[in-house]
Amino acid sequence: MMNDKNEFQEDKLDNAKSSFLKIINSLDTSEQIKQFNEFAKNILDKEIKDIDDFSNRFTKYNINNALILENIKDKLRNKLSITAEAPNENIVIPKTIEYEGYTKETTVNVDAFLYSDKDVEELGLNGQLKNYFCNDCGSKNIESLNFISHSTSTLQLRYIFEHVLNGIEINDKIVLDIGSRLGSVLYVGYLFSSTKKLIGIELNQFFADLQKEIIQEYNMSDRVEIIQDDIMNHPQLLQTADIIIMNNVFQFFHSLPIQQAIWSFIRVNTKPSTLIITFPDLKEQLGDANCTNIDFDKWVKEIKIKIPYKKSQLTEDEWKDLKLIHLYKVL
Ligand SMILES: C[S@@+](CC[C@H](N)C(=O)[O-])C[C@H]1O[C@@H](n2cnc3c(N)ncnc32)[C@H](O)[C@@H]1O
Repeated sequence: MMNDKNEFQEDKLDNAKSSFLKIINSLDTSEQIKQFNEFAKNILDKEIKDIDDFSNRFTKYNINNALILENIKDKLRNKLSITAEAPNENIVIPKTIEYEGYTKETTVNVDAFLYSDKDVEELGLNGQLKNYFCNDCGSKNIESLNFISHSTSTLQLRYIFEHVLNGIEINDKIVLDIGSRLGSVLYVGYLFSSTKKLIGIELNQFFADLQKEIIQEYNMSDRVEIIQDDIMNHPQLLQTADIIIMNNVFQFFHSLPIQQAIWSFIRVNTKPSTLIITFPDLKEQLGDANCTNIDFDKWVKEIKIKIPYKKSQLTEDEWKDLKLIHLYKVL
């Protein structure tokens, strides 16, 4: 016997089917039906791809906003190369244990916001990305390439806005993304949360201009602002933000002394009760930058996040990506 919830879902499906038939019957010519078929197929293909990507994990699923996000990604993919780097960008692989063995030759930057793991696999198979490098030319000594992303994936972003920040009254909050790059945090925050304001600050002129272009084209300027500058010039942004997001912002982009100066600046300017979301672990980042002057336990307290899925519902990489995300409250 079906329970009430299942019956309700069946009703919804029946209603959708009969509405669909009504639409078809309302069309007059076979040409209109063909065009409608094309239109509906496009939307359903994107919808199904998105459901596959998220495995229907999120409750507040919104088809229109998911389509807008896909559209933004398409636009960015067309404007950028697969590595999604800015012209003349100088990205330096950090000398830490995590990146031991990563060299310019063995490492590829692939943007996780624009390309899912599945996309990377497909691109690799199509020969657009080399998945392997030859250690010793002419021999069969083949090893896998290391992939690094400088953007947050859509899965991580929706997890942040729909789970990590769920339960926080977000309507009157200001979210600051330090190092907003392609603007992924801002677009997902705009489309999948009701946060009052999202501010992205980005050092790189090329990326700041790109974000401004998207914000304007998709009419997001009522809640999104982009600032092109170094965060070090904006203490007031740190002082007024309620939620600060930092995805490995400084490690690949600055020398150790500069990283240390920026972390001290952030430490001094964050006000009590501000929430900080970092990935990876903030303590680990401070350790990697050798910030011996920052007393972590006096600055923040970690709020443990429970991933709301079983390990078996996610791929190994997805599980690792979500585990990287940490939430802290400034004391
Ligand atoms: C790893 S990316 C983060 C991307 C984005 N927040 C996301 O989650 O998709 C770091 C970005 O921070 C920028 N950045 C580095 N240092 C900065 C600074 N001092 N002020 C502002 N932006 C900075 C870099 O140019 C780079 O685009």
